[in-house]
Amino acid sequence: MLHCTRILNGRNLNLLGQREPGIHGRPALAEIEAMCRAAGERLGLEIECRQSNSEGQLVSWVQEIPGEFAGLMLNAGAYSHPSIALLDALRALKEPLIEVHLSNIYQRETFRQHSYVSLAAKGVICGFGPRGYLMALDALAALLNDAS
Ligand code: DQA
Repeated sequence: MLHCTRILNGRNLNLLGQREPGIHGRPALAEIEAMCRAAGERLGLEIECRQSNSEGQLVSWVQEIPGEFAGLMLNAGAYSHPSIALLDALRALKEPLIEVHLSNIYQRETFRQHSYVSLAAKGVICGFGPRGYLMALDALAALLNDAS
């Protein structure tokens, strides 16, 4: 069974590859998305990727999940830490959410060590760089297969 899955990347993640590569890794977002699509083919996931720097746009894309997607993978970037609006949208979902961060947010500044997204996530993967996206897809595919 093919499960449609949305991958959302938030603020500043369009700059991956150029932005603090020692922290976030060298691959550009387009390369990570291509890796995810290839992994999705192996895992039975049809992947749709979007990125926005706008909180409202991310909220709208989350609101589109029910009925259209089986699950969501989200790296909200800096919106992970302060966005109650995003948390409210995520809490309205019945579909599983996996939260991803490239860096280990628990080794960074204290303001990054709390994520509102985590309150709605089935699980969190952080600190593995771009490979974490593939680990999250693996986890999501397992959850969706268990449920079907
Ligand atoms: C990030 C961690 C956030 O704290 C930061 O604002 C980002 C990237 C990560 O993937 O490690 O933009 O989400």
